[in-house]
Amino acid sequence: MAQVTETAGSALPRGFRSAEQGWPRLDRIPHPPRRVPLIGDVVGTNVRTPVQDSMRIAAELGPIFRRKGFGKEIVFVWGADLAAELADESRFAKHVGLGVANLRPVAGDGLFTAYNHEPNWQLAHDILAPGFSREAMEGYHPLMLDVAGQLMSAWDAGEAAGRAVDVPGDMTKLTLETIARTGFGHDFQSFEREQLHPFVTAMVGALSFAQRRNVVPPLLSGLLRGAEKRNAADRAYLNRTVDEVIAARRAAGDGPGDLLDRMLEVAHPETGERLAPENIRRQVITFLVAGHETTSGALSFALHYLAQHRDVLAKAQEEVDRVWGDAPVPAYEQVAKLRYLRRVLDESLRLWPTAPAFAREAVADTTLGGVHPMRRGAWTLVLTTMLHRDPAAWGDDPEAFDPERFTPQAVRARPGHVFKPWGTGARACIGRQFALHEATLVLGLLLRRYDLSAEPGYQLRIAERLTLMPRGLRLHLTRR
Ligand code: HEM
Repeated sequence: MAQVTETAGSALPRGFRSAEQGWPRLDRIPHPPRRVPLIGDVVGTNVRTPVQDSMRIAAELGPIFRRKGFGKEIVFVWGADLAAELADESRFAKHVGLGVANLRPVAGDGLFTAYNHEPNWQLAHDILAPGFSREAMEGYHPLMLDVAGQLMSAWDAGEAAGRAVDVPGDMTKLTLETIARTGFGHDFQSFEREQLHPFVTAMVGALSFAQRRNVVPPLLSGLLRGAEKRNAADRAYLNRTVDEVIAARRAAGDGPGDLLDRMLEVAHPETGERLAPENIRRQVITFLVAGHETTSGALSFALHYLAQHRDVLAKAQEEVDRVWGDAPVPAYEQVAKLRYLRRVLDESLRLWPTAPAFAREAVADTTLGGVHPMRRGAWTLVLTTMLHRDPAAWGDDPEAFDPERFTPQAVRARPGHVFKPWGTGARACIGRQFALHEATLVLGLLLRRYDLSAEPGYQLRIAERLTLMPRGLRLHLTRR
C-alpha cells in the first residue's frame, strides 16, 4: 500500500506533476478563472464554507476540477462515472489527507484516521465489526429507546411551554448519549443540562480546527496560534474524558459486552492479538465523535425536510401509525419496516451527506476517466454533495426533495456508486447500520408523537466543521 501522507510544501497533490514536469498533467482539469498568484483560487470563497464554495465551483466547472488554496492544489471529482471508477477497490483506496489527516493528533491510528498500511486498522476492524452485527444492534435497541424517551420528555416540556425546539442541539444530545451509553456504558447526562456537554464543545473545537488547518498555509500558521492553544486544551479534555470512561469500566470489571468490552477484552480471532491501551483511547474518541456528529446532522436535515414538506410528513406519519400501531414502544424488527421513513432519511442524506466528501488514492499508476493520469499515491476528493446532484444519475431537478427517488425500482434503475453518504469500500462507515437504526427509530417516535412545523421564513443554512449541520434550525411542535 502506498505511503499516504501529502507531499509537504508541494503545490500539487502527491503523484501529480505540473505540465512542465511532463506526465501526468493537471492542465486538462479546469480550475476557477480568477487564480491569484501565491494564494490560489480564493476569490469569492470563505474559510468557513469550503464545501459550499466547492459546490458552487463544481456547478461551473463540471465533474472534475481543481482548486488551489495557499500552495495546496486539490482535484475534486463528482461525476457519476468518475466516482464509480474511484469506487473500484482494485485501483483506488481510502486516502487519509486534508481534514482527516488533521484529526490524527486527536484520533491517531483509530479506525477513521488510520492509514491503510497501519496494522491497527485491520486489527481494530476485525475486533469491532461484530459490535455492529444484527445481534449487537438488537442489544442496543432498548438503550436507544431510553435515550429517545429522554428527548421526548424534553420536547414535551418545550411543546407545553409553546417553545420552539433547537433541533441540531437536541439531536446532538440524543446521538451523543446514544453512542456513549450503547458503546461505552457512559452517561453524559446531556438532557439534564441546559448547554451541550463540554465533550461536544471540545469535539466541535477539534473538528473546526482540523477544517481551518486545511485553508491556512504553513507560512501563515502564526494566525492559528490562539486556535492551536485552544485545540491543545480541547484535545486534553477529550483525552481526559475517555480516560475516565475507560478507568470506570476497568474498575467495574465485567461490562455488558459492548464496544468498550470488545476493545478491552476481545482478542483477534486469528492472531490472538489485542488492542494496546493507547489505541483503545484513540478508538473510544473515534467512536464517540464519529458515532454521533454525523447522525445528529442526518436527523436534523431529515426533520427540516419533513417540516417543509407537509405531504411527506403526512405520509410518513401514516406509515408509522400503521406499522407500529398501538405498541407502546416499537420492537427491534419494527424499525426497519418503516420503509418510507427510511427513504426520507436517504433523500436527506442525498442532499446533505453529513460527511460531505471522502478522499481516494490510486493504488498503482492509473488513468482516471481515460484522460487524467494519476501516479500511485495520487489522490482526489469525491465531493459527495455534488455526486448526489449529478443530473446523469438524479435527473433534471436534483435539488428537489423527493423520497420516491429511493423506491426499490428507482434505485435499481440508477447506475451503481451514485449514492455514497457512507463512503466506499473497505473503509466505508462501520457504523452505518447503527446510524440507520437509531435515526429511523427516533424519527418514527417523533412523528408518532408530534406534528412539526417550520419557523416562518426559515431558510436552510449550513454550518460546516468537516461535517455538515443545519444552522439555527428550530421547529414548533404540536402533540398529536
Ligand atoms: C448518518 C451517520 C453517518 C454518516 C453519514 C457516516 C459517514 C461516514 C463516512 C463517509 C465514512 C468514510 C470516510 C472516509 O472514507 O474517509 C465513515 C467512516 C466511519 N464511520 Fe461513519 N457515518 C455515520 C455514522 C457513524 C456511526 C453511528 C459510527 C459509530 C457508531 C460511525 C463510525 C465510523 C468509523 C469508525 C469510520 C471509519 C471506518 C474505517 O475506516 O474502518 N459512523 N462514516
